[in-house]
This record gives sequence, C-alpha cells and structure tokens, in this order.
Amino acid sequence: MKKGLFIVLEGPDRCGKSTQAALLKSWLEELGCEVVVTREPGGTYLSEKIRRILLDPKSNIEPMTELFLYETSRIKHTLEKIIPALKAGKVIISDRYTLSTTAYQGYGRGLDLKTVETLNRIATLDLKPDLTIVFDIPDRVFAQREHLRNGRDRIEREPDIFRRRVNRAYKLLARRPGITRIDAGRPVGTIQADIRARVQKILSAKK
Ligand SMILES: Nc1ncnc2c1ncn2[C@@H]1O[C@H](COP(=O)(O)OP(=O)(O)OP(=O)(O)O)[C@@H](O)[C@H]1O
Ligand SMILES: [Mg+2]
Repeated sequence: MKKGLFIVLEGPDRCGKSTQAALLKSWLEELGCEVVVTREPGGTYLSEKIRRILLDPKSNIEPMTELFLYETSRIKHTLEKIIPALKAGKVIISDRYTLSTTAYQGYGRGLDLKTVETLNRIATLDLKPDLTIVFDIPDRVFAQREHLRNGRDRIEREPDIFRRRVNRAYKLLARRPGITRIDAGRPVGTIQADIRARVQKILSAKK
C-alpha cells in the first residue's frame, strides 16, 4: 500500500515542531517531492472540529473522554489524509501522532498505557511512520519557553505538574527502539541539518 514517506514530529509544547516542519517541507520540495504538512489533532474537516472541542477551555472533558476524542480525530485523519497521501507517493509530515497520546493521556493523565497503545493501534489501522522524531528539550530551555505559553487553550492551561510529567514522558519515549531523538535545545539550523540527514538516509534507502 505504502509508496510515500510518513514522517512524524513529536515533543512537548513549543519544542520547535512547526518551525522544523516548515523547513523540512521546503527542502523536500526542492528535492522534487510532493509534501503534505498536517497536524494532530486535526488535518481534516472533522478532525479540526474535534481539535476545537479538545482545546476549548470551556470543554469539561474527563481523561477517558479526552482519549477517545483524540483517537476519533486520529481515525479520520489516518483514513482521509495520511493513507491517501502515502498511496499517491507523497511525503506526509505530521505535527504529532500516536506518541502524543501516549505522552499526554498515558503519562500525563495517568491512563493505562496498554489501553492507550491499543487505541492508538486501532485508530491508525496499525500504520507506523517511516520516521518518528522526538524533540528532546533540555529542562532549562523548557522553562524558558514556558513564558511563551499564552494559556489560551485547554491543554496549555494545565498546571505545571502536568506539563512536567509530559516533558519527562517524552524523554523516556525518545529512547524507545525505532524512535529518533533530536536534541532540540540547539539552534534552528543545526536541528534542521540533523533532521535532513535522517530523512536523506531513508530517501536513499528507498531508491
Ligand atoms: N531551535 C530553536 N531555538 C530557539 N527558539 C526556537 C527554536 N525552535 C523554535 N523556537 C521558537 O520557539 C517557539 C516555539 O516553536 P514552534 O512553534 O516551532 O514549536 P511547536 O513545537 O510547534 O509549538 P506548539 O506545541 O505550540 O505548536 C517559537 O517562538 C519559535 O520561534
Ligand atoms: Mg506548532
């Protein structure tokens, strides 16, 4: 089924995912690839609607409801956007995917990790990225970026303890087999060069 390339960027809030996704997209386009940048939750009409519900500070959502909303958004995103893009031979760069649910709803909210990972598998039809990059930011940088928090969305309004749990979770997840850890405490260009080198390797192996 898969012809394209599926790249996922992961990490805590404000670790630099959007910045790096845009730079990666322009480089891949220069190489002649057709690139789709997308995000979770979101990426389709329905999934963006679910995103709005999830991020609305007025939504009162208990952890298990939150988990299912993320997974519902994900099923639609996988079926309507990711799989068709891959079938068409495109490169799809997703800002967040299943690891975010493991970090935020599993480690952050304290939901059973097996349940989270089972639902992750169901919601993606077991579709695995070709490359998952976790942006690992040093605690010092994490603290500096906290002041950029605008507190407008429901997740951003969570207390520090929740945010620190998620950050710690990513440090663990970055060490899982099959995950590429990037030190995201460095300058934008240095990080991008690292990412391009990883992607280049996969592109060369595919030829
Ligand atoms: N390597 C870097 N060094 C210094 N500042 C950076 C770096 N990468 C990104 N930034 C800055 O940090 C902030 C967050 O970056 P960005 O929006 O790319 O992160 P994000 O992971 O997409 O965040 P969010 O979770 O809010 O979507 C921005 O102000 C950006 O300019
Ligand atoms: Mg972003």
